[in-house]
Amino acid sequence: MIRSLRKRLLLWLSVAIVAMSALTAGIAFWMNFRDANALQDTQLQQIGASLGTQPVAAPRERFRPRDGEDAETHLVIRPLGSAGIDPNPRIDVMLPANLSPGLQDIDAFNVRWRVFVSRDRDGHAFGVAQRQRLRDEVARDSAVAALVPMLVLVPLLLLIVNLLLRQGFARLVALSGEVDDGDVRDLKPLNTAGIPVEVLPLVQAVNRLLTRVGGLLEQQRRLVADAAHELRTPVAAARIQADNLAHADLTPDARARLESLQRGLARNSELVDQLLRLARVQGRAPLAEQSIALDVLTRNAIEETLALAESHRIDLGCIRLDPAKVRGDPMHAFALIRNAIDNAVRYTPPGGCVDVSLLTDGEFVQFAVEDTGPGIPLALRERVFEPFFRILGTQQSGNGLGLAIVKSAADALGGSVELSERVDGQPGLRFVYRQKHA
Ligand SMILES: Nc1ncnc2c1ncn2[C@@H]1O[C@H](COP(=O)(O)OP(=O)(O)O)[C@@H](O)[C@H]1O
Ligand SMILES: [Mg+2]
Repeated sequence: MIRSLRKRLLLWLSVAIVAMSALTAGIAFWMNFRDANALQDTQLQQIGASLGTQPVAAPRERFRPRDGEDAETHLVIRPLGSAGIDPNPRIDVMLPANLSPGLQDIDAFNVRWRVFVSRDRDGHAFGVAQRQRLRDEVARDSAVAALVPMLVLVPLLLLIVNLLLRQGFARLVALSGEVDDGDVRDLKPLNTAGIPVEVLPLVQAVNRLLTRVGGLLEQQRRLVADAAHELRTPVAAARIQADNLAHADLTPDARARLESLQRGLARNSELVDQLLRLARVQGRAPLAEQSIALDVLTRNAIEETLALAESHRIDLGCIRLDPAKVRGDPMHAFALIRNAIDNAVRYTPPGGCVDVSLLTDGEFVQFAVEDTGPGIPLALRERVFEPFFRILGTQQSGNGLGLAIVKSAADALGGSVELSERVDGQPGLRFVYRQKHA
């Protein structure tokens, strides 16, 4: 079963066209054949009628054809009952005396003749005979000639049908491309211009669905943003109170507990901040689209992470930093770079190495971070981009939002992220972000 409606239509229309053409051709052939035979009968009658105005004598000499065609096409004209002169039964025929007046067929030595019998001026019966095979050939040739235009027109018709179908379906094919290219953060209704009325209701239904889904997504994003925003103040207040408590006179045991409380509060505060960042990068199309100097952002991000790298005894450095510009919201670009470097520093064991590079590659800008950490198993390289997804077993605390922010920021910027093995084959993770340069 062919799934393509266009191909199915083309197949069935072609079958119908070919079948109808064959039927028409058959009928036309038969009619032309019949007409050509009738025309030749009329010619025989006319020759007979014009010969009837004079006496028709039996030929005394043998017929001598001028050429092959003459031998084939000549007419035998002689009184009935007179003996044939040429012994070749395909050239001459003996017309029996008992033939009735008018048109008829006779067979002699397996050759069929068409004969018109009439009377001459003296009242003697004579016949005009023509070989049937020759008549059939002439009739067939004229019938076939009538079919030639049809043989040319049928393939042309098939071609036109194919073109029309292709053109008719082109808008639908373009529509699916539009759906594929659609931005999930900003669901726009599909363009209904030029959509055939048969498909229009479907496209309109999809548009209504898109509007509802878009509304739901926006609602969800706002809920996260509002929740994070509301949590910010109480979390900050709790941190200040805990800090104030640190100035009080505390027993060593109470101080240890307070420090643990402070670490927990710091983590909460970090979670709230990351949630806010995620909500922001997941927002609608960036408001502040501008030219971004990725090299400057990369240097800033490295500087911000140096202290963390030092405390983890990680050699954080930049192996190449080409000047590179892209278009988008700088906040998104910075969140992406910062989280990628932050992860590399956090998940690489002490003594390891994190290499950052930024280079232009054709029309693309490529930002890469390679570390000497444990890497991420292939099966989890998609899942780590989901919000709150973390790989258990690392000593690092975190909330699983970093790579979700990276992914959303990349989508917003119109670039792509990829996690892979290190280029040199050593254990570790290679993070690459690519975007067209401005
Ligand atoms: N450079 C890296 N090396 C090894 N594992 C990593 C690296 N970056 C991220 N991961 C893994 O991916 C998970 C998700 O990362 P992320 O979304 O940034 O959340 P978080 O860092 O808060 O756990 C991390 O928990 C970690 O297990
Ligand atoms: Mg992280």
